[in-house]
Amino acid sequence: MKRLAIITSGGDAPGMNAAIRAIVLSCHTKDILCFGFYHGYNGLMEDEYQLLSPEVVRPITQYGGTILKSARCPQMHDDAGVKQVASTLKRHKIDALIVIGGDGSFRGMMALQAFWSGRLIGVPATIDNDLACTDSTIGFATAVNTATQAIDKIRDTANAFERVFIVEVMGRHSGHIAFNVGLATAAERILSFENCPTDDFKHVEHSLIAQIQTQQQNNHSSFVIVLAENLWPEGPQGLKKSLFESAKIESAVCVLGYIQRGGSPSPEDRILATELGIEAVSAALTDSGVMIGKVNGVLTRSCIIRATEQNKPVDQALHSVYKHLTYT
Ligand code: F6P
Repeated sequence: MKRLAIITSGGDAPGMNAAIRAIVLSCHTKDILCFGFYHGYNGLMEDEYQLLSPEVVRPITQYGGTILKSARCPQMHDDAGVKQVASTLKRHKIDALIVIGGDGSFRGMMALQAFWSGRLIGVPATIDNDLACTDSTIGFATAVNTATQAIDKIRDTANAFERVFIVEVMGRHSGHIAFNVGLATAAERILSFENCPTDDFKHVEHSLIAQIQTQQQNNHSSFVIVLAENLWPEGPQGLKKSLFESAKIESAVCVLGYIQRGGSPSPEDRILATELGIEAVSAALTDSGVMIGKVNGVLTRSCIIRATEQNKPVDQALHSVYKHLTYT
């Protein structure tokens, strides 16, 4: 293998830069020319790239975001867009493409397999941690830290004002962030896909009201609800409205949003990204259509289809722990 390309694609995740650095340095030791295309698949369409030398990546491990920029790329849903990406890769005689991203980015890789015969390797990076075949994705640990610190601050105000707070966290359609952050912040209630029957929100609302009222009678001063985004009808404002209309419970809403995607990656994410990046280059020498992961401390190469199509549920142990923690 002589020429390798990298993109970072989809939602940026803290640790992407550490993965880029590891890949570039590993290519350097193997005498492989490394192309960094900008803005995810868009850069491959527009032929927008930079050759990545060790000098370019020296001071980047500690930074969030991605030096290669990122983007979503709807054109990857059409053959025309995928062919355009393939033609850029062929023109530059690229032997392997490493995609650092989440499930949408990996679906782009699968589409590319039909039009390009080079090697395709995925490195899982998303704050959502919603990919199978790896215990953790790059960025998840940092997002959990960031959201935990933010809610600790919110807790001070919640205590001071004896207030109910509804804090929405990211995760798209998975509850990994909600459950981990909810447990880490001793939230009185975690509302996520895994523990809320989406066909019976009224039931959830009634049990929540009962829990808040019992706690208020027992003089516990604050009540924090960690709510997974995209779960509740009309979001946190919808829940706030229901609590007031059904039980005259006042609450404050805080949507943590993109604060969870940014910031300096935690040491855990930097190290994971570095390990996965190095392994991705080794995999690109022999394999294709695989995602690099780390399962029970061991680096793995799994079929990209399995990694994206299998659901990774929130750890059952977290559910069990949470069930033992209610004050009511
Ligand atoms: O996948 C990462 C993520 O931050 C999700 O948690 C969130 O639902 C989504 O991306 C937001 O996407 P966008 O950056 O396109 O608004």
